[in-house]
Amino acid sequence: MAALWAPDSWTRHEARQLPHYPDQNALAAACRQVSSYPPLVFAGEARHLTSDLARVAAGDAFLLQGGDCAESFAEFHPNNIRDTFRVILQMAVVLTYASKLPVVKLGRMAGQFAKPRSADTETVDGIDLPSYRGDNVNDIAFTPAGRAPDPARMIQGYAQSAATLNLLRAFASGGYANLHQVHRWTLDYMGRSPWARKYAETADRIGEALDFMAACGIDPETAPQLSQTRFYTSHEALLLPFEQAMARQDSLTGDWYDTSAHFLWIGDRTRFEGSAHVEFLRGIGNPIGVKCGPGLEPDLLLRLLDTLNPAREPGRVTLITRYGADRIEAALPRLVRAVTRAGHPVVWSCDPMHGNVVKASTGYKTRPFERILAEVRGFFAVHRAEGTHAGGIHAEMTGQNVTECTGGAVDVTEQSLADRYHTHCDPRLNAGQSLELAFLLAEMLNAEMAERRKAA
Ligand code: PEP
Ligand code: CO
Repeated sequence: MAALWAPDSWTRHEARQLPHYPDQNALAAACRQVSSYPPLVFAGEARHLTSDLARVAAGDAFLLQGGDCAESFAEFHPNNIRDTFRVILQMAVVLTYASKLPVVKLGRMAGQFAKPRSADTETVDGIDLPSYRGDNVNDIAFTPAGRAPDPARMIQGYAQSAATLNLLRAFASGGYANLHQVHRWTLDYMGRSPWARKYAETADRIGEALDFMAACGIDPETAPQLSQTRFYTSHEALLLPFEQAMARQDSLTGDWYDTSAHFLWIGDRTRFEGSAHVEFLRGIGNPIGVKCGPGLEPDLLLRLLDTLNPAREPGRVTLITRYGADRIEAALPRLVRAVTRAGHPVVWSCDPMHGNVVKASTGYKTRPFERILAEVRGFFAVHRAEGTHAGGIHAEMTGQNVTECTGGAVDVTEQSLADRYHTHCDPRLNAGQSLELAFLLAEMLNAEMAERRKAA
């Protein structure tokens, strides 16, 4: 029998990747302040996302999750939020059209601040300082003051998340998400892409479908669904003092929810057995994700699933696999078979980013676009062979025209990485690469759907 859960029961478990705050009183004061603030999302919205994800688990929808590796205080600007929102919508339109499946849109936005690191300290010119752990913990500047964990940063993180979420809600419901407009943006991108011809057919067909609907009297004026969308938020639930401070008991059901985002995930470094992060997330009602990397054995995964989703509620757990292009086809089938055999109704989502990091000859940490696509292809191939639904994609991306991942139709070379390398953590796909990924995903999803129709 599992021990009783409470918002602070994680403190009695092994916690990795948490900062060592020098001033415990200051930490307690910041947490008290955050816990007095309004929830950012409501329990009912989180439950709605669970039911949307249940459709993905059943093979009747697709999950599109994307955004920054790390949001930052310095890059906080409405244009950044708008541009990432916009590319996610464009990708969703392409995917919806190709697969005829609804696409669940989930931003890595409005709270994605805390980062796990491979080392506790960083050494530069013989000086040791704590590693940068995300803007809600410390500063990226390599100075003793900058790297000291400061609990007051949680307050700023909360404020930025609230403002970001407010803008996202306005975009999603205030007309910016108009389907015709989203399609025009895509056509505009297509006009400038060297691979335009390759995607022209899909883009033309979407245009024809919209024209046909308009001729039938179905346009944004008559059908509000065409000018609105549902957009959810997510981040890694890493900084547990903050997440605990955002936990609220739902007045309707009495259940606890982490109201910092609709969806929270556990990282690959913190999903070990008995971890504080697993303990915290098992008790909240939100839909949750688990990152699954090469070190995760099927037995442990099944025990994790029993802990996190004992009732086997569909949509509750999304497994985000991140192996690397060269490992996925050998490693993923074991997990898929174990989970299927155990009867756990999960969403399978592909993170083609975190297993494909390489160091460019110019010193930059990058991800070759071809490797990202190769992992996505491998992911679809495994699920096709196992008869499971390739349910989603998890991408680090931005609407900005950055040069952080090499390759793509507008080729980013190792030499051009220096031009606009802005990320605070891992390299992201730029707007063009993201859309290109969507067109390729569309082809694969379309093939999965065609196969399914044939089998029916
Ligand atoms: C991330 O998503 O930014 C991340 C750190 O991933 P992972 O836990 O899979 O390494
Ligand atoms: Co990352």
